[in-house]
Amino acid sequence: MNEKEMIHEIERLKKEKNAIILAHNYQIPEIQDIADIVGDSLKLSQEAAKTDADIIVFSGVHFMAESAKILSPEKKVLLPVYDAGCPMADMIDADQLRAFKKEYPEIPVVCYVNSSAEVKAESDICCTSANAVKIVKNMEADKILFVPDQNLGHYIGKQVPEKEVISWEGFCITHHRVRTSEVDNVRKQHPDAKILIHPECSPNVVELADFVGSTSEIINYAKMSDSKTFIIGTEMGVMHKLRNENPDKKFYLLSPGLTCFNMKKTSLPDIYKALLHEQHEIIVDEEIRKKALGCLERMLELS
Ligand code: 13P
Ligand code: SF4
Repeated sequence: MNEKEMIHEIERLKKEKNAIILAHNYQIPEIQDIADIVGDSLKLSQEAAKTDADIIVFSGVHFMAESAKILSPEKKVLLPVYDAGCPMADMIDADQLRAFKKEYPEIPVVCYVNSSAEVKAESDICCTSANAVKIVKNMEADKILFVPDQNLGHYIGKQVPEKEVISWEGFCITHHRVRTSEVDNVRKQHPDAKILIHPECSPNVVELADFVGSTSEIINYAKMSDSKTFIIGTEMGVMHKLRNENPDKKFYLLSPGLTCFNMKKTSLPDIYKALLHEQHEIIVDEEIRKKALGCLERMLELS
């Protein structure tokens, strides 16, 4: 089957099975082009919660498909590549979180959506990079525990100085390796460019940004801005939408290392096989799911 035939088959299977394809902004261009919705973690969880489809094919990484299942348990949620995971989400498990909570009793836990269902079940409220600052600002507590991303935790602490954010020491292996020297170099090469950076980058890199936001916030910022040149400090997948939506603007990746290997595991044939064989189905233990649901719902209410 050639690519055109495969796309045709994907469309046919989608209709036949009443399925929807949700794809993260980091997915490869071919997948973004056939997806029903492409977005950041927040947008995709909102869509998963409200869709009428019977099947959700989640083109992204495991925690995203798992969050969709938590929000829509009556739907079949499929992750096309079973081992597409997020190393940052795996940097804390439920036992470690319970021990962290014991160390700091009575302090509420905010967990980044990049976390397992078990960790969400142990947390008070979830957040994404798009709403983390707003959520923490609106909490009554003056201290919070934040898991698992130390960099997003640090960023929240800077934006909400009236609160103390005690962070777990996880990090994104893709964003964390960006260096300040790379920012200094692009500033020299493109002095008029706006530098847009994801808060998963380390604090000294984030400090040098003109704008800090989630993947979709970065895409929207570039669209609305009068500037003509942008340096993009997040995973390279966002370049597809940025270039498509702004043919008159120039985009450069901040660092050649900005590729998430796990986000790039899914190909068009994987989407086709996921729809055809209804694989790989995400299953979440019902007791864990109910607890994790509260954590996600509190986030969606505040978003
Ligand atoms: P957002 O799309 O929510 O900014 O998330 C970035 C990310 O790293 C997802 O794993
Ligand atoms: Fe996880 Fe980072 Fe990849 Fe996002 S970019 S899925 S945080 S490793």
